[in-house]
Amino acid sequence: MIVGIDFGTTNSLIANSEIFINERGSRITPSIVFFRNNNEVLVGDLAKSQMYIRPDKVILNVKRDLGKGKEYIINNEKFKAEEIASFIFKKLKNIVNEEISSAVITVPAYFDDNQRNGVLEAASIAGLDVVKLLNEPVAAAIGYGINIENKKILVLDFGGGTFDITLMEIKDDVFNVLKTGGSSELGGIDFDNILVNWIVNTVKEKDGIDLNVDPVALQQLYIHAENAKIDLSVVENTDIIIPYIATLNNRPYHLNLNINRDIFLSISKGLIEKIEKLILEVANEEIDEIIFVGGSSRLFFLKELVKKIFPDKKIISDLNPEEIVVKGAGLYAQVLEGKINNILLRDILPHSLGVLDDEGNFIEILKSGIHYPSSETEIFTNTKDNQDTIIIKVLQKKNDEMINLGDFEFKFSKKWKKNEARIAVNFSLNINGLLEITAEDLNTGQSLKGKITNAMVNRKSINKDFINNYKII
Ligand SMILES: Nc1ncnc2c1ncn2[C@@H]1O[C@H](COP(=O)(O)OP(=O)(O)OP(=O)(O)O)[C@@H](O)[C@H]1O
Ligand SMILES: [Mg+2]
Repeated sequence: MIVGIDFGTTNSLIANSEIFINERGSRITPSIVFFRNNNEVLVGDLAKSQMYIRPDKVILNVKRDLGKGKEYIINNEKFKAEEIASFIFKKLKNIVNEEISSAVITVPAYFDDNQRNGVLEAASIAGLDVVKLLNEPVAAAIGYGINIENKKILVLDFGGGTFDITLMEIKDDVFNVLKTGGSSELGGIDFDNILVNWIVNTVKEKDGIDLNVDPVALQQLYIHAENAKIDLSVVENTDIIIPYIATLNNRPYHLNLNINRDIFLSISKGLIEKIEKLILEVANEEIDEIIFVGGSSRLFFLKELVKKIFPDKKIISDLNPEEIVVKGAGLYAQVLEGKINNILLRDILPHSLGVLDDEGNFIEILKSGIHYPSSETEIFTNTKDNQDTIIIKVLQKKNDEMINLGDFEFKFSKKWKKNEARIAVNFSLNINGLLEITAEDLNTGQSLKGKITNAMVNRKSINKDFINNYKII
């Protein structure tokens, strides 16, 4: 069986024709890992309950750290973010009682090449063969209506850690992405952070206690702040009550604060403005419908905000925002299994790809917004005498940030004088939106073997005994 996996910053789900149920009877498994000891990890709700007492051994939001070279130290051992994520993939695999041959895994449309490769690396460590990296908004659109005809929809996917905005046209079984935007650094947790700061500052001002210095207290604040944020999506105001969170004058201190929607709006003003700006960058007047995806789409002010931007557009609000992505991934898995009629996906590159020239300038080779699969060839030469290798520094331009994808080194069969070598470097985007680079020596007609160094992620399939020895519960 091919499964569809929605690996989320906060929650993960796995499906085929239905969403699989975990050992707790829940379709949603929190993306949380707890190291019980040196050979056992708890994943999901079991890990979540440990958050209060052992925050130093719990890892949250690991999806945000994929493809960035991030490491964690737990029980004196070093773990890469991809290794931690592999535990979540293994847990999901264990939920399914059947043999899994391969997986469709969803990723934010906005993910860069390193982040996509980070997901592949994590899946590979977990022994999953990924047949397709499916962009989350496309998965949501498939989940919304695999049989929909001729519509332009705007997908607003606002999850725990990412905000993906996608304008898409569905026509004759083709899901054609027209434009994407959003941010992989904006999600529900940012509102939690703001709320935690507000609580810390309020308690400091009111009672002179600094809750910031106590990791256990802070962990509790995060949990209660998230709950308060969720409460505010149904009520005007709510109490944040945490008994025994600190001591004051040798007596227990109980936190008791009330927060209302107005305070929430005022402390989150900056984030809300950012949300509006991001939506306006992608949206246009041709939209027929707007669909909301992701738990944070339940934020109380969001529908109002979207109504203000598009007063006369139809908002589809009867979809389950936490499940629609995995539903689409499961449907696409069934398409690949041949159980459902084929659909065609035309996705676009979110950020330009290119190389760094000798003067340190970015030379764009694949432009953001192009549909993939796609490829471009560029011809390079050598800049020094006696050169038998050429190193191409590959970058992805993400807003104003330059993401290093690694140095691609090609070796010639002989040494060339300055400017004599002619090498055609092909940048191609595969069906997963991943960059593949090949090169040909134009003087000899030979294809050249490439070696990647200085890369953030491992681009090869890997088997890690050290990680595989952990028992996943
Ligand atoms: N009623 C609510 N009001 C506001 N926020 C909510 C509500 N319910 C859930 N959330 C938030 O939704 C987020 C989780 O959403 P979801 O499960 O869709 O994220 P995810 O898929 O794990 O993340 P991502 O897609 O960004 O990787 C959390 O930040 C949670 O606090
Ligand atoms: Mg999600």
